[in-house]
Amino acid sequence: MLAGGIGISGVSLFCKLLKAKNIDFRLYYGARSKEDIIMLDWFEKYGVPVNIYTEDGSMGQKGFVTKALEEYDDNITVYACGPTPMLKSLKTITKQRNIKAYLSLENPMACGYGVCLGCVVKTKDGYIRTCVEGPVLDSNYILEF
Ligand code: FES
Repeated sequence: MLAGGIGISGVSLFCKLLKAKNIDFRLYYGARSKEDIIMLDWFEKYGVPVNIYTEDGSMGQKGFVTKALEEYDDNITVYACGPTPMLKSLKTITKQRNIKAYLSLENPMACGYGVCLGCVVKTKDGYIRTCVEGPVLDSNYILEF
């Protein structure tokens, strides 16, 4: 599980669910600086260890959270939520390494129920609405976002 910035909130309940089901996973959380790190007490409450990366090195390991993938071989599945540049980078890395990845997109959403078309992404099936058909999509299914 990879989270960037406020994407940590997007993965929190999924982490809680996996933990409750005793499913083995690791959580990696990246932010610009230690001042941007949130919810550590929440994850501690549910027994989820958090591996932290900060861009300025003020907490955890220095660098982007996508560096965490260097610790693993290709036989993993990645779930991620975070800013679009992070997700685009993940898409590239996981495609190159043939790693299965599911991305929770943070597209701006105006209406949130499928009528404004402000959140569309280009997929193998054409444009779809992130708010209705997503927001979690197979990385390989997404063509542009
Ligand atoms: S936010 Fe309006 S269609 Fe998705």
